[in-house]
Amino acid sequence: MKERIFGKTGRSVSEIGLGTWQLGTKWGEPFNHDEAMRILQAADESGITFIDTADVYNGGESEKAIGEYIKSHPNKFYITTKCGRQLNPHTDEMYTPSAVRGFVEDSLKRLGLEKLDLILLHCPPTSVFARDDIFGELEALKKAGKIADYGVSIEKVKEGLMAMEYDIAAMEVIFNMFRLKPLDELFPKAAANNVGIIARVPLASGILTGKFKKDTMFGDKDHRTYNRDGAAFDKGETFSGVPYDLGIELAEELKEKLGTADLAGTAIRWVLMHPEVSVVIPGASRASQVIENVRASELPALTDDQMAFVRALYDENLKPIIHPQW
Ligand SMILES: NC(=O)c1ccc[n+]([C@@H]2O[C@H](COP(=O)([O-])OP(=O)(O)OC[C@H]3O[C@@H](n4cnc5c(N)ncnc54)[C@H](OP(=O)(O)O)[C@@H]3O)[C@@H](O)[C@H]2O)c1
Repeated sequence: MKERIFGKTGRSVSEIGLGTWQLGTKWGEPFNHDEAMRILQAADESGITFIDTADVYNGGESEKAIGEYIKSHPNKFYITTKCGRQLNPHTDEMYTPSAVRGFVEDSLKRLGLEKLDLILLHCPPTSVFARDDIFGELEALKKAGKIADYGVSIEKVKEGLMAMEYDIAAMEVIFNMFRLKPLDELFPKAAANNVGIIARVPLASGILTGKFKKDTMFGDKDHRTYNRDGAAFDKGETFSGVPYDLGIELAEELKEKLGTADLAGTAIRWVLMHPEVSVVIPGASRASQVIENVRASELPALTDDQMAFVRALYDENLKPIIHPQW
């Protein structure tokens, strides 16, 4: 597994990390503690040193499972967590310095740590990205030794540009073969500011594995059923905001034109073709997926023709839908 330097943090992390929104389960299915442990062990044994989690994933079970694993395997992982999405209602007014302080304390407890490596504001309302009091509190928590670094997770490019007015160390953003907008303005500015980029949703929620068909059914409680139109949260988080049937057609075209039987690996390798990305974090609903996904680190680089094909496919089919929204 190759490593990259993670922006201002100066830390070296595996270029493929582990996303843990679905740790120990398929989305919408009950949490399975043993599967969570198998996934973490597979990540550990595969050379993954970067984990992405959040306080709200599986109602805290994701952080707790990671805390349990690192208790018996200390100093294995650089752990990024996120906060804010448990605020109800999830509005600007609910974000206060004391709420942020409380989130940090709660994540420290669930993870069993004395200091968080990195905490991100978890896609707050856009106005929060200009809140001096919230970023000031994160800076104070850093000075107090509760967190080593802070940053943001964003939905829209403009939010990342706003956040870079503050001294953030890292930013988490949707970036995949169906989402090229960050390349225009966001990545160049992040590179200039030495802000580490965590690339999330690299498989467009699984479409970019090429395993789904137009008639594939997902569970009732899986966001791939209930959030296709953004009923629960930003629809960009589900299939990267691409209409499902179109996504299936484009994945088929990618398989054929890129000449690959391993579209998932190619999709992850494509993300890694961009040096601004510090780490890509595919999620895995079972341990075997972790083992498959880490192989992408060893795949050959895509050719210029392959890169140009992905760009053309995006420009022609997706840019008019994706660029204006995110
Ligand atoms: N707002 C935020 O900050 C935010 C939002 C979303 C995600 N994230 C983070 O980013 C991570 C990654 O995003 P994501 O999980 O939403 O999307 P993703 O990585 O694009 O897709 C993950 C899904 O693809 C399928 N999959 C993964 N590897 C596979 C393989 N080798 N073969 C076949 N299927 C495979 C699995 O679904 P099935 O097995 O169920 O088909 C898995 O749950 C999350 O875990 C989370 O840590 C953060």
